[in-house]
Amino acid sequence: MLPRRRRARTGSPGGPARPGPACPCPPRFPGVAIHLAEPRMGRSRRAFLTRLALSKGFRVLDAYSSEVTHVVMEQTSAEEARCWQERRAAAASPPECTSPELLDISWFTESMAAGRPVPVERRHRLEAAVPAKGPPGPVRVPPYACQRPTPLTHPNTSLSEALEVLAEAAGFEGSEGRFLSFRRAAAVLKALPSQVTAPSQLQGLPHFGEHSCRVVQELLEHGVCEEVERVRRSERYQTMKLFTGIFGVGVKTADRWYRDGLRTLDSLHEQLQRLTQQQRAGLQHYHELSIPVQRPEAEALQQEVEAAAVDILPGATVTLVGGFQRGKLHGHDVDLLLSHPREGLEAGLLPHVMRRLERQGLVLYQQHHRGHPEDARRRTRHSHTMDAFERSFCIFCLPQPPGAAVGGAHRRAVRVDLVVVPVSQLPFALLGWTGSKHFERELRLFSRKERGLCLNSHGLFDPEQKMLLRVASEEDLFRHLGLEYLPPEQRNA
Ligand code: CTP
Ligand code: MN
Ligand code: MN
Repeated sequence: MLPRRRRARTGSPGGPARPGPACPCPPRFPGVAIHLAEPRMGRSRRAFLTRLALSKGFRVLDAYSSEVTHVVMEQTSAEEARCWQERRAAAASPPECTSPELLDISWFTESMAAGRPVPVERRHRLEAAVPAKGPPGPVRVPPYACQRPTPLTHPNTSLSEALEVLAEAAGFEGSEGRFLSFRRAAAVLKALPSQVTAPSQLQGLPHFGEHSCRVVQELLEHGVCEEVERVRRSERYQTMKLFTGIFGVGVKTADRWYRDGLRTLDSLHEQLQRLTQQQRAGLQHYHELSIPVQRPEAEALQQEVEAAAVDILPGATVTLVGGFQRGKLHGHDVDLLLSHPREGLEAGLLPHVMRRLERQGLVLYQQHHRGHPEDARRRTRHSHTMDAFERSFCIFCLPQPPGAAVGGAHRRAVRVDLVVVPVSQLPFALLGWTGSKHFERELRLFSRKERGLCLNSHGLFDPEQKMLLRVASEEDLFRHLGLEYLPPEQRNA
């Protein structure tokens, strides 16, 4: 035990960096734990950068550990970075299976400027290229999307998009098998580090059946694939896309309308009696809702909701999840999780928040769903259908940007999902609501098939032991499943 004064001075290098007064707790980006590696940085600069990151809601770990997801270095060569990592890995006991990103300071400064972790791009990385011996061998891609990082941007976009059109079209026809085949092949392409330039490069990749190979081959040879173009042009695809793009309309409803001869939004306006309240609201605001929500707009809404929630219940937290949590710059809606560090206090919060926002003139439409969070059977049974949290599916008015004309002139409608989560289920809900949808589906399938465990947004259930497993964080959850941790920006499957 150190004497009191010395302990106070040396406290920081050993344990986690102490949050300064500006540090909002808990961290805003649960999937990210930064370690600033000191060699070239110097103590005072490191302390400064640490305070900066903490003030922006990042988690910074002073000591290197397996929890670290992003190692940031300054003025360090790729070769030095690799030596540093090898030394760490050798020193670790037990030996480490996780490997954090080794990043140049540019990733850090860009993230600070953006106020969130920006997606890691190749130019940020410090890894030294391992010298190639002979021609590059086939890339090894594990079969489940949750076993491999999938960044937001990748070099095979036109190929993956073509396969996704075929997946979507199969989904419109209710062909679940075909939907999954194309969707999985597309997800494999999204995880490849380099551009596919020849059909032979598909050899050995999982989920590439004859049909998907043919589509890619045609695209590589001719630049277009006749089948994909035919689908894109078809009345059926276009109409299904139009109808399922309406808030509250799923494939079954869209298909029924199509079979009844409906083709346009105007034809729906003439048959309002066929529509639910939600669908009517979706139709009414269709054009504004089809404009993508931009990240600054989503962040403004998050702050608006958080202000209301904290005012009603001090300590309440509001976390932006969904595509924005994965680093997307725009999305079709804003997904927010409401919680409170003391279990139980979150109950009853949502209706109060909604009333407050309504008084502020923010709410154009809302549909509240009572939750069944204590329903243990639902917690474990429904592995991929809707979870049982209390929620509100809403249409909000965007808060006006500062300086904009008053009087509602510049407001526009935005889709918002609000979900209430008891803190004990937060790691599961964060994981479940961060997506992507395909990533979630694969993660649940992997849990069931490879681990015999049942995962959903409420918990991780062991059917043999008949018990729910305790999990403290998303990282912990990956560890439980024996998976390498993937931060949200690598879940863009
Ligand atoms: N989700 C869910 N239950 C729902 C709706 C959505 O668990 N009833 C989850 C989905 O699995 C997904 C996440 O919430 O992982 C976000 O869904 P969504 O908003 O539809 O998609 P995003 O990935 O956010 O895409 P976008 O940016 O277009 O909104
Ligand atoms: Mn979303
Ligand atoms: Mn959503």
